[in-house]
Amino acid sequence: MTALQKVEAIRDRKGKRAIAALTAYDYPTARLLDESGVDVLLVGDSLGMVVLGFPDTTHVTLEHMLHHVAAVARAKPNALVVGDLPIHTYDTPEQALETARRLVEAGAGAVKLEGGVSEAEKVRAITSAGIPVMGHLGMLPQRVLEEGGYRKKGRTPEQTEAIREGAQAIIDAGVFAIVLESVVPDSARFLTTTLSVPTIGIGCGDHTCDGEVAVITDLLGSYPWFVPPFAKPQADVAGATREAVRRYVKNVENPSHPQ
Ligand code: KIV
Ligand code: NA
Repeated sequence: MTALQKVEAIRDRKGKRAIAALTAYDYPTARLLDESGVDVLLVGDSLGMVVLGFPDTTHVTLEHMLHHVAAVARAKPNALVVGDLPIHTYDTPEQALETARRLVEAGAGAVKLEGGVSEAEKVRAITSAGIPVMGHLGMLPQRVLEEGGYRKKGRTPEQTEAIREGAQAIIDAGVFAIVLESVVPDSARFLTTTLSVPTIGIGCGDHTCDGEVAVITDLLGSYPWFVPPFAKPQADVAGATREAVRRYVKNVENPSHPQ
């Protein structure tokens, strides 16, 4: 399937089968997730935190993103590869299009950016050039410093209406799906039934959206120093890694009693 066919298939899933998305930042992870049947591989700018060791996503550059999108694309996944536009790489429609083009050249099949009404023209610039765009509303991590923390969104009818307006603006500009982050469950459910494109939730409660996305380190338990409250770890890769390395160190130090 071409990237555009994958995008259409995802759009068509609305109201049918739920969409399973995960982040991936490197070749082996992309291959493993793809072999396990995930629909979307998001090279998210969460990269900055869970791979590069920055405190938040505001440190991520386009160079970082291109390096990791290319690694994921080398896995030639069946899943759609979506690359995030990092902060300050889409300050104008022209810059947004140029950034999106570079992510596509690196191997992304679609791109994602954060925001609603204020970003609609930028979405339009990218979709008009034939590059599919995924939206991202609710909690916007690229604005965490302005907002002074990660807070739940859609807690009042006014907040929910603001998200709905933003969603409609970017849908009109051509997004094929929208990530909803940290939107309270009732609001996420309302937005999901109201909006014409699939919603993909993270931190929105169970079964409130048309799909879910998780940060792969949260799923695998491989980044134990910060685990968001909504994470549902299915493995303890951090524990397995520490155990394997402890054994390795012991075996190197004491080869006559291998463990
Ligand atoms: O960067 C990321 O991982 C994301 C997801 C949380 C949706 O944008
Ligand atoms: Na992101």
